[in-house]
Amino acid sequence: MAYVVAEPCINCKHTDCVEVCPVDCFYEGPNFLAINPDECIDCNACVPVCPTEAIFAEDELPEQWSHYAQWNEYLAKQWQQDGFNLTEKKDPLPEAELWEGREKSETDILTWDLESSE
Ligand code: SF4
Ligand code: F3S
Repeated sequence: MAYVVAEPCINCKHTDCVEVCPVDCFYEGPNFLAINPDECIDCNACVPVCPTEAIFAEDELPEQWSHYAQWNEYLAKQWQQDGFNLTEKKDPLPEAELWEGREKSETDILTWDLESSE
């Protein structure tokens, strides 16, 4: 089992979770964080610190977010490969307050466009 970041994180990304994780298993996308299930040690430290209550033990995921377990695995591994391990807190996304409590979906999750030059 592992812990899973679910829908409330989308467009918020408060990042309090990364500071308390003893194994640094959070990976960052543009508007979402994902936990690598192979690295998570199920310590529960991240759950109480998330302001949007986005993190759940896999077996306690609300039914409507059960597919986020697969999304975390897929995205965490992709972002890990791309070098986006996040271990220090940063500012939440500017529109975080606006999005808190609003309905979102996994189709709102963005990923990095590493092809385009900056
Ligand atoms: Fe990290 Fe523990 Fe949360 Fe897993 S449960 S992501 S090990 S803080
Ligand atoms: Fe997301 Fe909550 Fe962490 S909003 S970045 S899971 S503290």
